[in-house]
Amino acid sequence: MSPLDRRTFLKTASIALAGTNLRMFGQQPTSPNDHIQLALIGAGIQGQGDTKTALQVPGVKLVAVADCYDGRLAHSKELWGKDIVTTRDYREILARKDVDAVLIATPDHWHKQAAVDAMNAGKDVYLEKPMIHLYSDGPEIINTARSTNRILQVGSQRVSSIVYAKAKELLASGAIGKLNMVSARWDRNSSIGAWNYSVPLDASTETCDWPRFLGSAPKIPFNAERFFQWRKWQDYGSGVAGDLFVHLFSGTHFITGANGPTRAMATGGLRFWNDGRNVPDVLLALFDYPQGFNLSLRVNFVNGGEESEGFLFTGSEGIMEIAGNTVTVSRTPRESEPGYTVSTFTDDMQKRYIEQYRQKYPITHPTGEPPLGVERFVAPKGYSDSYDHFHNFFASVRSRKPVVEDATFGFRAAGAALLSNLSMEKDSVIKWNPDTMQLA
Ligand SMILES: NC(=O)c1ccc[n+]([C@@H]2O[C@H](COP(=O)([O-])OP(=O)(O)OC[C@H]3O[C@@H](n4cnc5c(N)ncnc54)[C@H](O)[C@@H]3O)[C@@H](O)[C@H]2O)c1
Repeated sequence: MSPLDRRTFLKTASIALAGTNLRMFGQQPTSPNDHIQLALIGAGIQGQGDTKTALQVPGVKLVAVADCYDGRLAHSKELWGKDIVTTRDYREILARKDVDAVLIATPDHWHKQAAVDAMNAGKDVYLEKPMIHLYSDGPEIINTARSTNRILQVGSQRVSSIVYAKAKELLASGAIGKLNMVSARWDRNSSIGAWNYSVPLDASTETCDWPRFLGSAPKIPFNAERFFQWRKWQDYGSGVAGDLFVHLFSGTHFITGANGPTRAMATGGLRFWNDGRNVPDVLLALFDYPQGFNLSLRVNFVNGGEESEGFLFTGSEGIMEIAGNTVTVSRTPRESEPGYTVSTFTDDMQKRYIEQYRQKYPITHPTGEPPLGVERFVAPKGYSDSYDHFHNFFASVRSRKPVVEDATFGFRAAGAALLSNLSMEKDSVIKWNPDTMQLA
C-alpha cells in the first residue's frame, strides 16, 4: 500500500475566512473630503495594475501620474480622466500639495531615489518590490522613513494575503512539527514570462525620456529594448533574484517569522533566452536559516511545461504546500517508532528503549497532536491579496500605525534575494547578518 493510500483523509476543508476583501462586500467609500490623494510614479505594467487595485479601496483618489514614456501618460488620461496631472518629471508631482501618497512602480534602479525624494517631500510611499537595487539603498530608505516619519510600505502583496496568514497560523500551531526545509519555485515557459515585453511602435527619443529613465545608470545611447525590457539588464533590474526570489523571501519570512538567512550559495546560467541580456534565466540557490531550516529556491524560465509557482514547507510531522490561493497540510503516519529492529530485544529492553527514544525525539506540537491526513484552506474565489495589501497601506496612512511590510522587512527580503547574485558573481558562499542587515 502506498503512503498516500495509507493516509487517513480526516479533514478536507475549504474555509471561507472572515476578513476577506471588503470590496467583495461593497463597503461604502468614506466622504469625498476624506479622500487620500494618490499619485503614481512609473505607469507601466505594474503601476497601472496597482493603481486600478488601489482605487478600489474606498476613499482613494488618483490625482497625478509621472512616467518617462508619453504613451503611458496619454493612456493614464484614457484610463483615469483628462483631469489628472501628467508629467515626465516626478519632482513636479512631489511638489504638489494635493498629493498625500505616492505609488512607486518604476524599474528597480529608481526605487531608492524616488522613495527618498517622496518621503523628503512629505509624502507617504507604497514602494514596489524589490525595495533595493543596491545594498546601500536599504539603510538610506529605512533612515529616511524614520527621519521624515513617513509611512512606507513595500509592495510584496503576499504579506497581506489570507492564504499566507493561514500558512503562518498552521506552522505556528505545530501542524507540520518542527520546520526543517522550505523549497520554493517560480517556473515559466513563455517569451513574455521571460520579460520580452512589447516595445511600442513609436518608441524613440521623442516619446521616451531616455536620460530620465537612465538616472544613475551608465549613460548609453537610446535603446528601446532596454527601456521597455529593462529587467534583462543588471543596470536597471536585479535579475530573477530581485524580480521573483524576493517574493519567495517575503513569503518565507512572513510565514516563519525569520529575519533572513546567514549563508547563501547560488548557481545557474543563461540557458535559452540568449538575446543579449546579462542575467540568468535559470537560477538555483540555497540558504541557511539560524532557526534551523534550509531554504532552496529555483527560477526556471525554460521549464518545458506549465508555469508554476509555489512553496513546500517540510516539517518533522508533515508537509505544508502553498499553491496559488490554496494551503494544504498533509500528515503521513510515521513508521511506529523507533523502527522494527527493536522488536528483536527483550520485552523489558523494548519498553526502556522506546521510553528513551521518546525523550530524545519528543513530539513537537505546541497545541497537542494534530489529526493525521490532509487539511486544506482555499481562499474565496476572486480573492486578491493585492487589494488587501493596498487596503492595509491606506489604513496605515490614515491611522499612522505601522504598516504590514515596512522598509526593514523589505530590505531583509530583497537583501536576502540579492545574495544569490553576489554568490554567482563571486563564485562563492556569501554570508549575511539578517538582524543587522549587513554582508558579513
Ligand atoms: N508586486 C508584484 O507582484 C510586482 C509585479 C510586477 C512588477 N513589480 C515591480 O514593479 C516595478 C515596475 O515593473 P513593471 O513591470 O511595471 O515595469 P514597466 O517597465 O512596465 O514600467 C515601469 C515604468 O516606469 C517608468 N519610469 C522609468 N523611470 C522613471 C522615472 N524616473 N520616473 C517616472 N517613471 C519612470 C517607465 O517609463 C515605465 O513606464 C518593478 O520594480 C517590478 O519589480 C511588482
